[in-house]
Amino acid sequence: MSKITLKVNGATHSVDVDPSTPLLYVLRDDLDLHGPRFGCGLGQCGACTVIIRGEAVRSCVKRVSTVGAAEITTLEGLAANGKLHPVQQAWIDEQVPQCGFCQNGQMLTAKVLLDHNPTPTDAEIRDAMARTLCRCMTYYRVQTAIKRAAKAMTPSATNAGEEG
Ligand code: FES
Ligand code: FES
Repeated sequence: MSKITLKVNGATHSVDVDPSTPLLYVLRDDLDLHGPRFGCGLGQCGACTVIIRGEAVRSCVKRVSTVGAAEITTLEGLAANGKLHPVQQAWIDEQVPQCGFCQNGQMLTAKVLLDHNPTPTDAEIRDAMARTLCRCMTYYRVQTAIKRAAKAMTPSATNAGEEG
């Protein structure tokens, strides 16, 4: 066991864990953050996604000891000052989830996409979201919600692609 310090959603936490423990387990079991989900445990579905250094990271295959001093953002950290992030609001407005299990990964991957590309085309959205799997097939509503969030985040911009 080792003492490891993590910065999560603006707070600093100290945990005493095996350094090889997946970050996902520490977030869920030690820090009680249940936004990230255990889906495949193999880095293939995206349910466990968190944001580290501005990138979507699959926390089920990320050893906790490799995070270092980087800030981790989980779904719980997206809202700010009592206001939902535009991605979260768009998810509600478009009624995206069905069972909801994959939606942590969908929202965090969408946020990273919009941070990198504020006006993605439909093809760019599909490409960015392609590895974030949904057994309930919410893909079309995910795409619609991302376009809604993009407009909310950059109201003067129009989406470059509307090819459906
Ligand atoms: S649970 Fe991490 S990618 Fe599936
Ligand atoms: S909403 Fe059920 S797996 Fe995506």
